[in-house]
Amino acid sequence: MLSTLVFVLFVVPLALSSETVSVRPRSSSSFPIYFGYGSNLLKERLERSVKATRMGIGKIKDYRLDFDYFSKRWNGSVATIVPDSEREVWVAIWRIPKGGFKKIDKQEGVAENVYKRFKVNVEMPDGNTINGYTYMLTKNPDRYIPLNQLPNARQPSKSYMDVIVKGAEESGLPTFYQDMLKSVSHNDYDGQVHYELS
Ligand SMILES: *[C@@H]1O[C@H](CO)[C@@H](O)[C@H](O)[C@H]1NC(C)=O
Repeated sequence: MLSTLVFVLFVVPLALSSETVSVRPRSSSSFPIYFGYGSNLLKERLERSVKATRMGIGKIKDYRLDFDYFSKRWNGSVATIVPDSEREVWVAIWRIPKGGFKKIDKQEGVAENVYKRFKVNVEMPDGNTINGYTYMLTKNPDRYIPLNQLPNARQPSKSYMDVIVKGAEESGLPTFYQDMLKSVSHNDYDGQVHYELS
């Protein structure tokens, strides 16, 4: 009886706490993690201005990729993710040095209420889960339309999709997902866009 009590009071909590510590990713507190699924799959945007470091790839479960909100900069709709229990979104995992999120927030129009930043879990190909930040439009589309059948008002520009497809290839996202990105309907605009972070 006493030994059972000792086991429950001391041994069980010890075992639980040591397991929790070893599983938790240690880097995330000192260097926050960012998940890019749109134009921030591409390194030239993030490496130069924010000094981000690639940490691999993974997927956000129970979300889907979608497009909405007309962006003047891209001349078309921009990417977002929407809660959706039937789908998942592949991302590039970046480690962001101190202060980097200020720049990304600015680029994503957080102060103007275009995107909001939130925390989410990503499952990596080795099965481990990592917690970090990503963004979604504050006003997400409420209706799912297959991305290869998007109506004109929701279509991204070809220039924007070219950046995403290039970034997906550079990140090493799965081939089936790259193919899906290539099939997204776009509005044919393939003129110059300025996509560097300021
Ligand atoms: C934006 O794209 C449309 C085609 O969808 C094109 O007609 C228009 O000229 C483009 N606007 C700018 C500012 O480049």
